[in-house]
Amino acid sequence: MSGILDGKRILITGVLMESSIAFHTARLAQEQGAEVILTAWPRPSLTERIAKKLPKPVKVIELDVTNDEHLARLEGLVREELGGLDGVVHSIGFAPQDALGGNFLNTPFESVATAMHVSAFSLKSLAMACKPLFPAEGAAIVGLTFDAQFAWPQYDWMGPAKAALEATSRYLARDLGKENIRCNLVSAGPIGSMAAKSIPGFGELADTWNQRSMLAWDMSDPEPTGRGVVALLSDWFPKTTGEIVHVDGGLHAMGA
Ligand SMILES: NC(=O)c1ccc[n+]([C@@H]2O[C@H](COP(=O)([O-])OP(=O)(O)OC[C@H]3O[C@@H](n4cnc5c(N)ncnc54)[C@H](O)[C@@H]3O)[C@@H](O)[C@H]2O)c1
Repeated sequence: MSGILDGKRILITGVLMESSIAFHTARLAQEQGAEVILTAWPRPSLTERIAKKLPKPVKVIELDVTNDEHLARLEGLVREELGGLDGVVHSIGFAPQDALGGNFLNTPFESVATAMHVSAFSLKSLAMACKPLFPAEGAAIVGLTFDAQFAWPQYDWMGPAKAALEATSRYLARDLGKENIRCNLVSAGPIGSMAAKSIPGFGELADTWNQRSMLAWDMSDPEPTGRGVVALLSDWFPKTTGEIVHVDGGLHAMGA
């Protein structure tokens, strides 16, 4: 059976638990014919354990996306394993506790800087660390955002961090387009992952989807989001870049 990622070599960050969007993306990518390599932080051993539940075995590379040494050695480690890369998934987000949950007006810059570094600047770091691995025909970079057009309850400094991620993606698309490297984001609705559970009051935010989403939304199902990511990695969006595809049940288009 042929898949939409047949013959593609894809690096996927962000597999932490089975609830991770990245886990389902990796599963779907393998099902669609891709060779997958994972990066993990902070506990590669935990990711290795979770990765055993994927359809095929994968190698896991330690990568703290804010660590320049980790970023510098990534190229060699991936080349050894896959020879190169046709796609990269950025599925990374983090903000310190004092940057979340209603503390917006009192968050110190140090915590804001951490959120920005891990959640936004890292898209550029990861793209540049992987760039030497891309073939002349080009490649696809896909990241995950939570719609930064709006101010959400509880989300606090992750909001500006996602706005920075969305802008970073557009600038990467601008600067890498001439090499046929596409950069796109999936803007997902709420999913009950570790990252989501670390946001105090996240349930309240998720409830909005039960009330307002155009399509029925299931917070415990990361598969629709993973499908969106896989589609953007494939050759079926060949002229799409700098784009944000909403996989949110249509909530972004709802007025009231
Ligand atoms: N869960 C949601 O409701 C939701 C909605 C929209 C977008 N997103 C985004 O999806 C992405 C994946 O999140 P998830 O919901 O699957 O949660 P998750 O907790 O499973 O994944 C977050 C990942 O970020 C990784 N990470 C944190 N700091 C890192 C660092 N310094 N270096 C490398 N990796 C680091 C963690 O190890 C983890 O694997 C994030 O960008 C998140 O903001 C999530």
